[in-house]
Amino acid sequence: MNLVLLGPPGAGKGTQAKKIQERYGLTHVSTGDLFRAALANQTALGRQVKKYLDSGQLVPDELTTAMVAERIAQPDCAGGVMFDGYPRTVGQAKALDGLLLKAGKKLDGVMYFDVTEETAIERLSGRRICKGCSAGYHVKYMPPAKPGVCDRCAGELYQRSDDKAETIRERLSVYGRQTEALIGEYRARRLLITVDANRAPDEVTAAVLKALEKLSGSGR
Ligand code: AP5
Repeated sequence: MNLVLLGPPGAGKGTQAKKIQERYGLTHVSTGDLFRAALANQTALGRQVKKYLDSGQLVPDELTTAMVAERIAQPDCAGGVMFDGYPRTVGQAKALDGLLLKAGKKLDGVMYFDVTEETAIERLSGRRICKGCSAGYHVKYMPPAKPGVCDRCAGELYQRSDDKAETIRERLSVYGRQTEALIGEYRARRLLITVDANRAPDEVTAAVLKALEKLSGSGR
């Protein structure tokens, strides 16, 4: 199965990707995570994309798609991929179709995480991530047992630099201008599966897994 997780920043794509991975074993390819790793490792790509991530703008399509092409050529992607945060433009959606076609694969579904802007802002403002193991938390909705400390590895929790109020606003506006149009495109192609993601994490997970059960059973 090859899936796209679509939705605004803060919709809960990364949180649910982990649940899907546990159940279906799909490889999680998050373009945001790949860019942040390149930045942290100070690679040439990292230096190129820094200004975009810092300002909440999209990295140019060519750079993004080249990175995705390289990632999905790895052996762990052979059994199926869950694309998180890609595609984000009409150009990237076309490029993804081409990449899958070239590999003799197809897109099986696009899971759209539907949330209000208010919910997205609240989630992003309270998000915390572990420096050690990258586990995700939320100060109100998924708090760690001890504030600022990871339950899993006792690592220090930090706030993503693009999760500050001004950049959150810009990311949501960029989503509205450049990504939202993909909802209609994928709906027209009968690939869209809409999940009401405004609910509590466990309720969203239940809805996601139920939808995927249907999809995997349908042989679409
Ligand atoms: P990226 O890392 O992809 O960020 P994003 O799309 O903005 O998504 P987020 O990771 O912020 O949100 P999410 O939906 O995964 O939410 P999460 O599960 O963490 O992109 C960052 C940047 O990289 C972009 O701005 C751009 O510059 C660049 N980039 C990336 N991809 C690109 C592309 N394809 N093209 C060009 N540029 C690209 O949840 C958020 C918080 O809410 C967490 O604290 C979580 O604990 C909490 N939470 C989750 N679910 C619930 C729930 N149901 N109830 C309560 N709280 C919840």
